[in-house]
Amino acid sequence: MRNRRAALASLAGASLALTLSACGKDSASTTKGGTVGIAMPTRASERWLNDGKSMVTDLKNKGYRTKLVYGDDDPKAQVSQIADLIEQRVDALVIAAIDNRSLNDVLKKAAAEDIPVISYDRLILGTENVDYYVSFDNEQVGRLQALYIVDKLGLDDGKGPFNIELFAGSPDDNNTRYFFDGAMHLLQPYLDEKQLVVQSGQTALKQVTTLRWDGPTARKRMNGILSSSYVNRKVDAVLSPYDGISIGVLSALKSYGYGSAGKPFPVITGQDAELASVKSIIAGEQSQTVYKDIHQLAEVAADMVDDILNGRTPRLNNRRSYKNGAKAVPSYLLQPTSVDKSNYEYVLVAGGYYTAAELK
Ligand code: GAL
Repeated sequence: MRNRRAALASLAGASLALTLSACGKDSASTTKGGTVGIAMPTRASERWLNDGKSMVTDLKNKGYRTKLVYGDDDPKAQVSQIADLIEQRVDALVIAAIDNRSLNDVLKKAAAEDIPVISYDRLILGTENVDYYVSFDNEQVGRLQALYIVDKLGLDDGKGPFNIELFAGSPDDNNTRYFFDGAMHLLQPYLDEKQLVVQSGQTALKQVTTLRWDGPTARKRMNGILSSSYVNRKVDAVLSPYDGISIGVLSALKSYGYGSAGKPFPVITGQDAELASVKSIIAGEQSQTVYKDIHQLAEVAADMVDDILNGRTPRLNNRRSYKNGAKAVPSYLLQPTSVDKSNYEYVLVAGGYYTAAELK
């Protein structure tokens, strides 16, 4: 890799000159800092739409132009979108990868052009051409999901045995392993003691992943598990790493009669506090979600871009944990919050993430 850190400071000056010269064409207030390419993974989930919107707003407020693209869950499409952004000579790239290992070649091009790269929410693996990582404490997300299950089932009080089924995220997303490991670290002792039993026998990460975090894929897998392993039993808990997966699992459970007086829904976790899932929590279907403040995430990423392009070292709070196979990527990690029926009003409504009317 070229000496990117040294190059970044001179880039700051270059990008300023370049964009000032562009001011004749565009509004000066939106071009003084340069242009930032933002590559997001999918429009199929509300959270990524919010991430994109927030990043654009925050960067515009700092005087940058933005080019926002969505890869629609197709790794090849994302690679060519990023190649286009590089050809359009963006000054920085913010990327939430679809397949964390598919970007090595295109990021070589970014490095050759001295374009700094921020890995957004999902860590890009196997390349040193990624400068910084901004995300949440991903293991903590998994821990919060597991703690919720432990608490609701009363496992610490020795209750059980209970039946649990495990779901994980997309195998090509680095976060998947962190969420799963964080959760399993807390659940494993109860599995060892047989206070928790996985009737399907599917406990290894590779058996429980859900390609592209797809809800219908999760529904299909849950249907299969219910028909093969739960004919005369009931499921007491489902570890789900993401709201879209929880909604898929719930739909399978409903088709097997769960949600009735004699067959209540299991404890089911989630992540992202998506509108449909918060409504489901209020309706007593999904039990919990993990809220991650996307506005804050976008703000940290926008600050990082601004610092890098102005030759300053960005604010970091973790330099060691996130190793991508080529290096430990300097990171800023935010804290997630567990949300259920008892605290959603306080966290999500009073906190300004949703209005009360949106949750009706
Ligand atoms: C992960 C992200 C989660 C969730 C999931 C599916 O990478 O950390 O919050 O959004 O993707 O989109």
